[in-house]
Amino acid sequence: MAFNEEQFKEIISEFTIGSERLHTIAASFRQDLQLGLRDVTQSSMRMLKSYVGLPSGKETGDYLALDFGGTNIRVFRIKLDGGGKYEIIKRVGRPLIVPGEYDYICKDATAEQMFDFIAELIDEAIDGDHKTKYYLGHTFSFPSTQDNLYNARLIIWTKEFATQGVEGKVANDLLVEALKRRGADNVEPVAVLNDTVAVLLSAAYKTPNIYIGSIYATGHNTCYLEPSIHDPNGVGLGGMILNLECGNFSKLAPNRFDKEYDEGSEKPGEQRFEKMVSGRYMGELFGMAISELLGEKGKKYGLTSIDMSMIILDDSENLGKASDIIMAKVGKELEPADVKKIKELASAIVIRSARLVAASFVALVWQRAGSGKIQKQHVAVDGSVYEKMPLAKENITKALMELLGEDAGQVDTILDNGGSGLGAAIAAAMAVQK
Ligand code: GLC
Repeated sequence: MAFNEEQFKEIISEFTIGSERLHTIAASFRQDLQLGLRDVTQSSMRMLKSYVGLPSGKETGDYLALDFGGTNIRVFRIKLDGGGKYEIIKRVGRPLIVPGEYDYICKDATAEQMFDFIAELIDEAIDGDHKTKYYLGHTFSFPSTQDNLYNARLIIWTKEFATQGVEGKVANDLLVEALKRRGADNVEPVAVLNDTVAVLLSAAYKTPNIYIGSIYATGHNTCYLEPSIHDPNGVGLGGMILNLECGNFSKLAPNRFDKEYDEGSEKPGEQRFEKMVSGRYMGELFGMAISELLGEKGKKYGLTSIDMSMIILDDSENLGKASDIIMAKVGKELEPADVKKIKELASAIVIRSARLVAASFVALVWQRAGSGKIQKQHVAVDGSVYEKMPLAKENITKALMELLGEDAGQVDTILDNGGSGLGAAIAAAMAVQK
């Protein structure tokens, strides 16, 4: 069976965003941001205060860093030497879910089970040493409100996490209790931060001219240094990093696949932007479009963004690798012309994602520049989609050029690999050294 040409074209056009529309999206992102700066309830983004600014670069000492933001939990012991230098002394990691064995992110798991598991991993990172004092920075990458550097309270799970008893709680309190239960209360969490903030701190520790940090991975979100933040009473709090939680940005038109996916998701109506761009969801959109093309709408194939990246990377004449993936997941041997179309579809979904992410970066660059000149700067990005997904980085760069025009030379993106760990250690240092 060959795909219907008209239907295929129509689907590709649903995933295509031209220049003009991209400009409009960047402008509405900026507008939503400005609304939120005046009154956060008016923005579709949560725009959460981080209670931290940029590091001075002089932060030093030994810290523990917990990176909790996806299915893989990591703990590091990091020695900061100042001047952008650091050393990772120990690194341990474990997934929160091993299918068939255990699952700490499902509805049946409890906060206690989840945090006991994390405390066990921390204990491994300190080799069971329950005497030495350790300060811990905690990268907790879910939307949380805080009014100091310690007390992030989870508003709502994202990224399809569903563990009971964590929403509404202070993540560090749950961690402190678990550490106590383990006899490891010599470990003291002193700072909590979103992964975007961690990436920004980590990148700014090493390189000047960085004010925007982003994660482009399982989830997607961005933070930036806002020069003047006010508390709800209008009292100025100075410059501070704002975690936008822009995965929830919703002032752009979704296509019918976006809508349909959202309706059937764990949290309908939430994280609309993230569901259009991030690694957790691209494979889902891809599968939905394929099921239409194959005339079996509604069928789920379990396609992931990793499958998409392998399909896109297949540059062979006969697209053998791509065909194998389709055979394994979709269960059909397709004609070469259709495999080529599937590859085109995967590319279109990735390109749309990269262009949308770039539009959000440009909105922040515009906002920081105000009516002045755009400053020379790098946007620090971490995450598997940015790092590994073919077409992602190059299409961000292309879209930045399209949107920034003559200022394009002022802004580029740089990879900050592992920022979630290093940033947490820097935040801990900023908390204890202030
Ligand atoms: C989700 C979370 C956000 C995090 C992002 C990247 O959007 O809500 O806090 O920064 O994923 O991990």
